[in-house]
Amino acid sequence: DSHSSIPNSVYSLSVDAQSLQKQIDELSTFSDTPAPSVTRVLYTEKDVLGRRYVKNLMGLAGLSVREDAVGNIFGRWDGHEPELAAVATGSHIDAIPYSGKYDGVVGVLGAIEAINVLKRAGFKPRRSLEVILFTSEEPTRFGISCLGSRLLSGSENLVKALETTTDGQNISFVDAARSAGYAKDEVDLSSVFLKKGTYSAFVELHIEQGPILEEEGISVGIVTAIAAPASLKVEFEGNGGHAGTVLMPNRNDAGLAAAELGLAVEKHVLESGSIDTVGTAGILELHPGAINSIPSKSHMEIDTRDIDEERRNLVIEKIHQSAIGIAKTRGVKLSEFNIINQDPPALSAEPVIKAMETATRELNLTSKLMISRAYHDSLFMARISPMGMIFIPCYKGYSHKPEEFSSIQDISNGVKVLALTLAKLSLQ
Ligand code: GLV
Ligand code: MN
Ligand code: MN
Ligand code: MN
Repeated sequence: DSHSSIPNSVYSLSVDAQSLQKQIDELSTFSDTPAPSVTRVLYTEKDVLGRRYVKNLMGLAGLSVREDAVGNIFGRWDGHEPELAAVATGSHIDAIPYSGKYDGVVGVLGAIEAINVLKRAGFKPRRSLEVILFTSEEPTRFGISCLGSRLLSGSENLVKALETTTDGQNISFVDAARSAGYAKDEVDLSSVFLKKGTYSAFVELHIEQGPILEEEGISVGIVTAIAAPASLKVEFEGNGGHAGTVLMPNRNDAGLAAAELGLAVEKHVLESGSIDTVGTAGILELHPGAINSIPSKSHMEIDTRDIDEERRNLVIEKIHQSAIGIAKTRGVKLSEFNIINQDPPALSAEPVIKAMETATRELNLTSKLMISRAYHDSLFMARISPMGMIFIPCYKGYSHKPEEFSSIQDISNGVKVLALTLAKLSLQ
C-alpha cells in the first residue's frame, strides 16, 4: 500500500477541530430536554431541525444531497470513476431520551469533516464517497432499532411491519414520516432498499461507549465484530382492583409478574456463565399507574445481547419459559410475548480492517482490535457491503446519559483515520 495516489497533504492536514466542536455543540441544542442532556426522537421537530443542519453542512462541503422515503440522507462526492461502487461512511443523529451529544453525531459530523479534510488536501477520489445519515438508529419511537439501515439492507419483514407500526401516541409510522416530509407519494418502502454492491465498503466512526480505549490510553479502536442484539415486548394482564380492599390471597398482580420476570432476565443472563451475555429490562409500564390500584396490566421491554448468537437465543427461550411459568403461578395472563428483533452478529471485512489499520499506523496513532457490544447501523450495512468501524475513546465509557464525552483531540484523531481510510478505499 503506497502513498503514490494519496497526496502527502492528506497525511499532514489537520482537522478543523474548532468548527467540528462548534457543530457538535450546535447540533446538541436541537433537543427536547435541557442541556447537557440531549433528546432527539425520530421525526419530531428537533429531529427535522437536526436533519436540516446536517444537510446544510453537506451542501457546504460540496456534496450532492439525496433523501429516501424514510429520511436516510446521502451526501455524495463524485469520484473520477463515478460508475464504480462508492465508498460510504456515516452514522445517526437521533438521541435516546436524556442521552448525550456524541453518540452517532461524531460519525455524521466527523464524516463530513473527513470529506472536508480530503478536499482541502487536494485529494481526488476514484470511487465516489458518500456520507450517510441513517434514520432512527435508536428504537425510541417505534421500538425498531436501526430502522433506516435495516431497511436499506433490504428487510422485507420491516417493510411489512411498518405498514401497521404505531408509536406510543398511536401515530402510525407513515403519518409520522409524512409530518417530517418523508414517505410522500411512496407507499412502497422497499424503494429504500439498496442493492448489494452499491458500496464497495462502508466505514462508521463512533465513540466506543465503553471504557477500554480510555483506560488503556489507545487512540483508535478497530472493530472486528458487532455483538448480536435482540429485544422483546412482554405484557401481563390481571384483574387489578382496589389497593385497600382486595386482600392479598385474592390478587393477581400484573406488576409483580413483570417484576419477577425482570429478575428472571438477570438470572438467565448470568446462567450463561459468560461476561459477554447481557440483558436489561429498560422499560416497565404499569396500568393504571395509581398508588392505590393493583396493576392490572404491565408492559415490559427487554434488551439482550451476546457476541454468541446461539447463547443469546437460549437466553430468549429461557425468558419466554419464565414468562409462561410466572403467568401460571401468579394467575395472570401473558397477553403478549413478542420478539421485536433477533439479529445475528456482524463481522467486519478484512480489507476494510486492513485499510483502517494501515491508516492508523501511517498517522502514528495507537490502535487496538476490539468488538462492539453496542449495535450500530454498521450491523445492517454489513449485509450489503464490506463493513468496518473506527472507535474513539470516551470519558469513562459513559454513553446513553448526559455525561457522555469525547475530547475534540480524540474526535479529530478519529476523523483523520476515517479520512485516510476513505481515501485508501476509494482508490481500491
Ligand atoms: C445503540 O444505541 C445500542 O443500544 O447499542
Ligand atoms: Mn445509542
Ligand atoms: Mn450510536
Ligand atoms: Mn405491547
